[in-house]
Amino acid sequence: MTTAATAGTARPIGIFDSGIGGLTVARAVAQRLPHERLVYFGDTAHLPYGEKSTAAIQAYSIKICDVLLRQHCKLILIACNSASAAAYELVREYVGSKAQVVGMIDPVVQHVGRHYAGRPVGLIGTKQTVGSNIYRKKIDQLDLGVDLHALATPLLVPMIEEGFFNGRVSEEIIRAYLDHPTLHGIDALLLACTHFPLIKPQMEAHYQGSVAVLDPSDVVATTVAEALAARQLLAAPAETAPAHHFYVSDFTRSFEESTRIFFGQEVQLEHYPLWE
Ligand code: DGL
Repeated sequence: MTTAATAGTARPIGIFDSGIGGLTVARAVAQRLPHERLVYFGDTAHLPYGEKSTAAIQAYSIKICDVLLRQHCKLILIACNSASAAAYELVREYVGSKAQVVGMIDPVVQHVGRHYAGRPVGLIGTKQTVGSNIYRKKIDQLDLGVDLHALATPLLVPMIEEGFFNGRVSEEIIRAYLDHPTLHGIDALLLACTHFPLIKPQMEAHYQGSVAVLDPSDVVATTVAEALAARQLLAAPAETAPAHHFYVSDFTRSFEESTRIFFGQEVQLEHYPLWE
């Protein structure tokens, strides 16, 4: 007899990020797919990925995939642009047929192609994401005339991690970046870092409607839903809410306290060292 568990629909969705920033994407997935159980891994021991080498991010990503595969995840979502830029292809190869893999970049590139053909679009992200040039390469491959203006904004992740948003300090930093000549004349700004949805309202206030600020979380959550539906792997509705698990490779109370801001509710973080 084929049960839901043997068919794989009851297996969880694995999500990882360098820390708790990816909880903004996890939140969108939980809203879009309320019956799915999530296993989240935040590699807080190695934060920030945005300043790390490609080789280091690849090694961390593979280690995390081992953890998620041991939890029988049916799909692994790389909820970090820096890791998607550095390790998406490697993770796909490594995971093979054991799970589907979704990254942050391809769904968003498709979205930009559909809505901004022939128009100037800005992008902000970490040094790793912008330096990899991966968004430009993929957007250029679409051949739809999207003119990408990419700027690394390394101060924004530590600023958000330290709780500096919705205030004067963050306003000044955001203004300094958004007024940078690289971003002049854009029609839309792509938030290519999973921390940035938290400062989306401040960016919208800065632009006052003249530039659309694109938070990719919902687009990526839709891609996850479509990928699972295509393989008939969507979880069946249940009467009780799914029990999500949240792991971090290094634990501090401040991470746990910040989960409310990123996930919309405080979650209990479990310590799971990557290297013993
Ligand atoms: N959340 C990561 C991203 O989307 C950035 C944080 C980091 O540098 O680790 O790129």
